[in-house]
Formats: sequence, C-alpha cells, structure tokens
Amino acid sequence: MGKGYYISRHLATAAMVLAAIALLTIIALSVVYNREKSKNAAKFTNATTSPVPPTQKTSNEPWDKYRLPDTLSPEYYNVTLWPRLVKNANGMYIFTGISGVMFTCVKKTDLILIHSNKLNLTLFKGHHAKLTGQSGVTAPAIKTTWFQMETQYLVIQLEGKLKPGKSYWLYTEFTGELADDLEGFYRSEYMEDGEKKIIAITQMQATYARKAFPCFDEPGMKAVFHITLIHDLETTALSNSQEIKTEKVTIDGTAVTRTIFGPTKKMSTYLIAFVVSDFKYISAKDKKGVLVRIWARKKAIEDGQGNYALKITQPILEFFEKYYNTSYPLSKSDQIALPDFNSGAMENWGLVAYRETALLYDPQTSANGNKQRVVTVVSHELAHMWFGNLVTLKWWNDLWLNEGFASYVEYLGADYAEPTWDMKDQTILYDLQRAFAVDSLTSSHPLSRKEEEVNTPSEISEMFNTISYSKGAAVLKMLSEFLTEPVFAKGLSNYLKQFAFGSSVYTDLWDHLQKAVDQTPGVKLPYSVHEIMNRWILQMGFPVITIDTRTGNVSQKHFLLEPEAVVDRKSEFNYEWFVPIKWMKKQQVQDQLWLLQKSALHKPMKVSKNEWVLANLHVSGYFRVNYDLGNWERLLSQLESGHQVIPVVNRAQILDDAFNLARASIINITLALRTTKYLLHERKYIPWEAALRNLNYFFQLFDRSEVYGAMQAYLKKQVKPLFEYFGNISSNWTAVPSGHTDQFTQIIALSLACSTGVEGCRELTRNWFKKWMQNPHNNVIHPNLRSTVYCNAIAAGGAEEWNFGWQMFQKATVAAEAVKLRSALACTKVPWLLNRYLEYTMNPEKIRKQDATSTIGYIASNIIGQSLAWDFVRANWDYFFKMYGTGSFSFSRLISDITYRFCTPFELSQLKRFQKDNAETGFGSGTRALQQAIEKTTAKIKWLAENKEPVHQWFLSESA
Ligand code: BES
Ligand code: ZN
Repeated sequence: MGKGYYISRHLATAAMVLAAIALLTIIALSVVYNREKSKNAAKFTNATTSPVPPTQKTSNEPWDKYRLPDTLSPEYYNVTLWPRLVKNANGMYIFTGISGVMFTCVKKTDLILIHSNKLNLTLFKGHHAKLTGQSGVTAPAIKTTWFQMETQYLVIQLEGKLKPGKSYWLYTEFTGELADDLEGFYRSEYMEDGEKKIIAITQMQATYARKAFPCFDEPGMKAVFHITLIHDLETTALSNSQEIKTEKVTIDGTAVTRTIFGPTKKMSTYLIAFVVSDFKYISAKDKKGVLVRIWARKKAIEDGQGNYALKITQPILEFFEKYYNTSYPLSKSDQIALPDFNSGAMENWGLVAYRETALLYDPQTSANGNKQRVVTVVSHELAHMWFGNLVTLKWWNDLWLNEGFASYVEYLGADYAEPTWDMKDQTILYDLQRAFAVDSLTSSHPLSRKEEEVNTPSEISEMFNTISYSKGAAVLKMLSEFLTEPVFAKGLSNYLKQFAFGSSVYTDLWDHLQKAVDQTPGVKLPYSVHEIMNRWILQMGFPVITIDTRTGNVSQKHFLLEPEAVVDRKSEFNYEWFVPIKWMKKQQVQDQLWLLQKSALHKPMKVSKNEWVLANLHVSGYFRVNYDLGNWERLLSQLESGHQVIPVVNRAQILDDAFNLARASIINITLALRTTKYLLHERKYIPWEAALRNLNYFFQLFDRSEVYGAMQAYLKKQVKPLFEYFGNISSNWTAVPSGHTDQFTQIIALSLACSTGVEGCRELTRNWFKKWMQNPHNNVIHPNLRSTVYCNAIAAGGAEEWNFGWQMFQKATVAAEAVKLRSALACTKVPWLLNRYLEYTMNPEKIRKQDATSTIGYIASNIIGQSLAWDFVRANWDYFFKMYGTGSFSFSRLISDITYRFCTPFELSQLKRFQKDNAETGFGSGTRALQQAIEKTTAKIKWLAENKEPVHQWFLSESA
C-alpha cells in the first residue's frame, strides 16, 4: 500500500511508455487525421459507428447496468490528444486522439466494458479497439464490439477469457467534437484585440472523461495517467502533472508542438484536465518548492488580475498542509481562469479550473465581494487537493462528504489568508441558513445515500445540490465543534494517511474520528461518532429545539415549514436527533449539554424573570431554537437595550429562526417582525444580511399587494440611520469603510435605502450613473456600489440606460464587472427590454452559455420580469432541457429562480400543470427543484391566508 509502490511503478513503466508514445504518436495521429479529413460530415455520436446492440435496454446484461463490473482494474493510461483550434473542412472543431489502457483482470471474464461517449472510434479489423496481453500472455481475440448508448459503454466481447492476475493493453484511436458544450474536452472562445481566440479545455466531473477518451470512468477506478498533447506552435499545453518534454515536430506536413507530461499520481478520471491556449501566467514557488502558477487571458494577466489569487494561494496551501498534517501531494499547482466554464470552479488535481470571476480580481473595478469570492473558491478547491483528490470517495453517493467537507473548510482556509474578514462567521449565511431553507421541506432527502440509489449521469448530477454542499458543511462544522478542532483534525489526518491515493466510504472517516476521540482524554461523547452522526446524515431534516425557561424543559421536534405536511419518508430514528447544545445564560457561557431524547428536563435552563437563555451559542449546531414567550421577550429587550451582549452570529440566527418559526406557524409573525426593531442600532453585516434575506422574502410575497406600502414605510424608517451612518463615515459616499464586512453593510444600506425611497438615495445613484454615461471612460462609481447603482439606474431609466449598460457589458474586460452589468440589465421595468434580454439568453454570441440560466434567474427576480421569464422558459422548454437538463447546478437553479415568487393558487396550478405536461421528458437534474417549488408555493399560500392581515397591521402600526 501507499505512495512508494506507485512511484516505483511509475519509474519502471515511464521509459517504456515514453518510447512508445514517441513512436506511435506521429504515425497514429497522422493516420487518424488523414482519415478524419477524408470523412464526410462526421457526427460524433456513437450511433454512427455502432452496429445494432444485441440486447435491448431493459435487459439485465452487464452493459445495461450503469456501474462497471468488478472484473477489471485499470493500472495506467497513455493518452495523446490533438485538439484542432480551427474548423475542419466540414465546418467543425474536432480533436483526434489515441489512447491505451493497461488493466489487470481481477475476475475471469470474456467481456470488457469501458466508458466511451460521443467518440468516433477507428475500426481495426472491424472492431473498435485492439487488445494485447502483457508479459507474454496472449490476449483472447475480439469477437465483437459495439456501443451501448444508454450506459455510455464501448462493449467488447471476447472469444476467450481474460485471466485473473494478468494484465492487458487495450488500444483505441478516435476523433471527437471539440464542441462549445462545457463538457468533457470542449472549446471556449473569447475576443482579444479584436481577434477571436479559441482554446481547448476540459471539465470531466462527473461523467465526462469518457467524452475525451475511453476510460473506466468511475471515481474508485484510480490509475496513473501519461498524457501527451499535440498543439499549435504558438500555444501552451497544460495538464495535471508537470510537462517533462516540449518539442517541435512535424505531423503530416504541419509543424506542431508536442508536450509530454510526467505520469500523474494514482488518481480518478474525473480529476483529469488538459488545456491548450495562448494564455499567460504569473508564478511563485512556495517554501517547499511547489510551483504555483495563475493562468488567464493575456490581457487579464497583464492587468494584474491574477495577482490576488497568487498572493492567497500560498497561505492557503500552507494552511491545509498544517490542518491535514500532510504535505501538498504534487509538485506544482496550476490554477487557470476560463472564459467559458459551467460551474464556479473545478478541483482538477494540479490544474484547478475556474470561472474568471472566481479567480481573477481587479482592484480598480472589482468589489470586495468579488475578492471574497476568489479567496473562498480558491480555498474550497485547494481543500479538495487532499480531501477528494488524494483520498477519493469511492462512489458518487458519498459526494456530500466530499463537497460538504470542502464547503466547510473553505472558510478555515480563507480565514487564514484573510484573518480580518470574519470568514468563519459567514458560514451561517452561506451554508447553514441556505441548507435550512430546503431541509425544512418534506421533499428534502437524507445527506447520505445508498450506493445503489445513484446510478445514471443525471442522478449523479443531482447530487451536487444544496443538501450535499451546505447541509454537509453545516453538520461537519457541528461535528468538528463538538469533537473540538484538534480531535477532528487528528482523525482527519489519520484518515488521509490510511487512504492516500486510494478510495474510501464515509464511515471510514467516522472510524478515524472515533479513534481520535478514544485517544484523547477529556473529550467525552454520549454515544459513538457513528451513532451521533447517523441521526444527522441518515434522516432528512433537522430539529427545532424548544426551551421552556419557566421549567427548564428542553425538547425537540422535526422542523417543517409546512406544519401539516405529511412526511412520507420513514426514518429509523423517528426524526429525533442527538443534539449538542452550546448555550449561555444572561452573559455567562454554560457547559454544553446533549439532548438525547425527545424531551428532557435541564434544570439550569430554568431562569428567573430577569435572566434570559440563548441556545445554539455561536450557531455551531444544525438546528433552530424556540423559547417560551417570556424568554423571547427578554431576548428582544436585550437586543434593543444592548445587542452587543449577544454574539453577532446569534443575533443573525435569532432573526432567521424567528422568521422561519413564524413561517412554520410555530410562533406569531409579529414576534418575528419585532426582531427587526433593534436593527435601528445594528451596524454589523451578518445580522443585517440575515434580516435582509427574510425581509426580501416578504418583499416578494407582498410587493403585489396592499401590504407593500406599509412595509416599505417601516423598512425605510429602519434603514435610515444605517444609510446616514454610512453617508457620514464615507464622506458622503465618496469613500468606503475600512472594515471588510462593513463594506458589505454599506452596500445593504444603499440598496435598501434606495429600494424603500430614503431621501437622497435615488438621486445619488442616478447622478453617478448619469456621470458615467456622459463619460464612459471614467466610471466614478465605487466598485463595491456598482451592482446597486447600476440596477437602480437601469430600473429608473429606459432604453437609453439599458443600451448603455449593454454596450458596457460587451466591452467589459473584467469578468466581475460584466456580471454586475449583466445582472443590472435585468432590473429594467420595461417589458420589451426584458423580453429581448430573455431572447439573448438563447444566443451564445450575446450571453455565454455558462451565464444563460443565471441571467434568466436575474430577470425572474424582477417583479415585472417574473412572469415573462416563466413564460419564456416554458415556451422554450425543449431547448433548455436539452441544453441544461443534465447539468449540475444550473438546471435546478433555473427552476427554483423562475418559481421563486410564486405564492398564489393560480401560480400553484400553473406549476402543477407544468409538472404534468412535461412528465414524459421529466425534469432531469431539476426534478427535486420542481418538487420543492410546489411545496414552497403551497406553504406560502396557506401562510398568507392566515398572516397577511396581521402583517399588514403590524407594518401600519410600526410605520406610523
Ligand atoms: N467539484 C465542484 C465543481 C463541480 C460541481 C463539478 C458540479 C461538476 C458538477 C467544485 O469543487 C465546486 O464545488 N465548485 C463550486 C464552488 C465552491 C466554492 C462551492 C462551484 O462550482 O460553485
Ligand atoms: Zn467542491
């Protein structure tokens, strides 16, 4: 086991492999290329070369199962690819490739199944591959080969059996389309100095490596990869490992560069990456000699947009080395910003890929929020270099642990790089509260899933959801806190050591954490790590803890947004949890207690009339808290008389809990509304952001009703002091506050003040924008405030403002600036402008494919745009389904965005109709998002019927 074995194996095979590549590449690629040239309009579907499969999809044959059999195990691959960055005679962009895989037979079989999708494989004597035996073994002859479209296999039936313990070499030659589809090996285009540039890049996770070369495309099937890229002379090639040779060669009369990369470590196919571009880079070496490079478009690098990422990469790597107690496993760390990229970023081992907005930062034009995005995304992806890449969860059912873990520790790494930014506190906004929002529905699901439940590519895609990421992060944070961080880190590092270069299942981590607990005197748990965690990951949802300070009684109940909802899903734990409760009484922190049953008496929680109890201190637990009315009152008066006594994250959580308890009809809505009264004195970001989200929810419920006016008036009153405060400390908005999160609060002040009509606000933003329109080369608006200013000005303006914004969007050379404009363009109130904008989302020349669904989402969040967006998506459903239906985040997000405002019986019936009408094609990776939308709308309708009037009255009385 362990590193040594693989390294020596590399060395032993490397020489042979390199020689083979050198010989074969030139011959094979020119053959492939010639063949390709002479072909008619090749369609890159498997069907074109497939004989009819001998069995139907419904059969129980191994090739009809989505999981590979356990008969073969890959050792290493030699892959040579040649992307063509100009169109071929048929007007297509293509790549050609040759690939061999050495595999060992584990169980006797006469069948080889290997993933291959949308590749056009060359025939050898009528078969799609060649098979040879290794070390004197004779391989059985190939009987027949075909493609199994549904399961994406190349199926190879043999005349005889492969022998256990023996190794074989499977060789293929192929062409594929270098499409602009953001999957597998694909192309991205951008303009530079008036010239169109094309680059070739990859995105393999989760099931797209098979679209670049035939491979055993499962995360547990780790192997060593020897990659070679052939590319134009003026371009650079990058891959996971360091280049060991770059040479000029002539293939078929064309002078090209061949870049040979060193063997990778033993790794999963989904982490493979290659890039061919003329990008530039900046670099540095860390203390241990690891080469760190940041790559991007030439202009972006020249403008210094990569500098911030380079600066923080070093401390973040250093942090994780310490935290994991394991050295960075590779010799280099490339990070590259790509103009077209589906997700935010991808943790390819040694060659991490990002959207431009997630890696580049331009101090002149980008906001501090953009800077924070960079540090958190970099931290998240670098966290995966160990957790996920060095040790990989065997199958996608455990994805929650991979993504949840990275989503938790990204805050630790970011905090180390930017210690003054309150990064750790922000998890409650971006994970805990986001997770609560979907985990309080009956359509939620447990974090952990059985291996057999996740099979098809779209089932795998669907795993990349809020539950996996945000609930995963929140329960791991809770675990780390009740174990204490040193114990958690110790277990973690032992886990990484045991499974390095291999794969694991989530219980392996629990085992190591348990060992660490057992070895640490002083850490006492009421049950084992397994037993405690089972309740959090095997059943969906979370509890609301109710504390009755009159008696000291503490109880728990499954928290559901819709109080009468029927939970179909049975839980072996009966929807009860083992709950670690950290708490304080008046100003004193108390000993943590464990609630281990439905209800228990905890005497110290019984308090006198002038004391209060606050539970879930520092919001380390994944649960909501409710109190008896007396305690609520005392907390409210503490907030008004001296809110600083309550930790800042708890102030935010009190607000969020109260609003959600009210939405679930557990407490009165007026009690929740009263938690916003103290905001008159609040200056901190996290509580304001929590308040804003809950109030926004109210905005979208009420902005079409008579409640709106009174609500506006109240909020105007509440935000006025904040607006004035920031006006004062920023010399009338010409400067920004020095504190990082204070800058966020300033943005909230401006946007809430403008939207509620605080005097002076709209004039301010309108004038700034006017100035910019008059002098487009000199944008005087501070980057932090641009989103708000642009949106307000475009909302207040007409076609002239919109067109100016659109021009500036097209000219933007900083991606973060382009996003601000793209979202502000959705703020117009002019229907035809919105409709035209919606049309643009189907034209990649206008709106990049990666940005189409989020643009529709922006439009849907506009009161005028909502119904336009909903009609538009329904009218073009086939297009959107085909384009995004199997994607990970984008599709489910699209569905939740366009239905976000739904709250009337009519809208609910439309939703149900929509579900029915499209039942046949289904909703792909958006299936759950649709169920959630229906459930949320149903809950809102009910709630509104009971609460609209009291809410109206309360706002009226408070705004008088
Ligand atoms: N592994 C994911 C990227 C990914 C997501 C690939 C879905 C395929 C399907 C990556 O580590 C990730 O989680 N990226 C996040 C950013 C992160 C900071 C939460 C993303 O893309 O939004
Ligand atoms: Zn991730």
